[in-house]
Amino acid sequence: MAILVCGGAGYVGSHAVHELIQQNEDVVIVDNLQTGHKQAIHPQAKFYQGDIRDAVILDKIFMENKIDAIIHFAANSLVGESMVEPLKYFNNNVYGMQVLLESMVKHKIDKIVFSSTAAVYGEPKRVPIMEDDETKPTNPYGETKLTMEKMMKWVNKANGINYVSLRYFNVAGALDDGSIGEDHAPETHLIPLILQVPLKKREHITIFGEDYPTEDGTCLRDYIHVIDLADAHIRAMNYLRSGKESNIFNLGNGKGFSVKEMIAAAEKATGESIKVEVGARRAGDPAQLIASSEKAQTILGWKPCYTNIEQIIKTAWTFHKKHPNGYDE
Ligand code: UFG
Repeated sequence: MAILVCGGAGYVGSHAVHELIQQNEDVVIVDNLQTGHKQAIHPQAKFYQGDIRDAVILDKIFMENKIDAIIHFAANSLVGESMVEPLKYFNNNVYGMQVLLESMVKHKIDKIVFSSTAAVYGEPKRVPIMEDDETKPTNPYGETKLTMEKMMKWVNKANGINYVSLRYFNVAGALDDGSIGEDHAPETHLIPLILQVPLKKREHITIFGEDYPTEDGTCLRDYIHVIDLADAHIRAMNYLRSGKESNIFNLGNGKGFSVKEMIAAAEKATGESIKVEVGARRAGDPAQLIASSEKAQTILGWKPCYTNIEQIIKTAWTFHKKHPNGYDE
């Protein structure tokens, strides 16, 4: 039996595929390559280029392969873009989930692990955030992921499809050897943008606001390494395989780092000094997002291995030094 990884050519998806194959799982990937990269596709995975909104390609995949479970990463994920193009997010994310779930019902596939986000919580009332805290997204991206979770909840009751939703905080880093990593166009995430300074691709990093109610005035985020995240997906899949009930878990390190602390850690990790400018706040940024991952630790037995922020940034640095212009040199 194989695992179908939707979005297996993307940042988190490609690392999850790598870990699945390390554990001798058979992997089938479907990816439309809109944000994913051909070069990130594992050579041992069977690849279909296609869109999950296309029921015909899903039929073909389910007929040509014995699929046991699905891990779903195929979604758009930029907060800023979602504010400008909400319908793109509802179409690709929500409608994509609908077609995928319809196909799962049709082909009797009853397990799905879903890539969700801390953005479902919106501005948190307390930190660390627990899974049963209020969900009140402040942008269409978070709204679509919350809607996708709700779709799975009702399909679970009606059609017996079991799901695990993993709400990630700030994903960071790359495979230790730097063969795969984070490559977005346009890049909006803090760590790759900071690293563009020592790569001489940008002159400075702009801090988006230093007047937040935090110790140094900059936003606190909970950074989790992409390989720890991949491990959590495999644990979630095995949890479903063992017949356990549907569930939702936060994934983070439980510790917040400020933007200024991240820049200092990147200076240590790269051995270069990084020029900084302070700019205005970015719309929609909560002051702090920190996860309680106690539930994942207790129920999935998950424990992050990468807890040192400098070490996390070092893995990203290895990837970016190897691929200074991303995958498409
Ligand atoms: N930041 C800067 N300068 C930059 C880029 C980012 O100061 O050039 C700051 C941001 O303002 C924020 C922090 O660095 O305070 C991290 O920003 P990212 O863009 O890297 O990540 P976000 O915290 O915005 O995004 C994360 C996840 C999303 C999730 C969101 C929830 O990547 O999937 O948290 O708010 F939706």
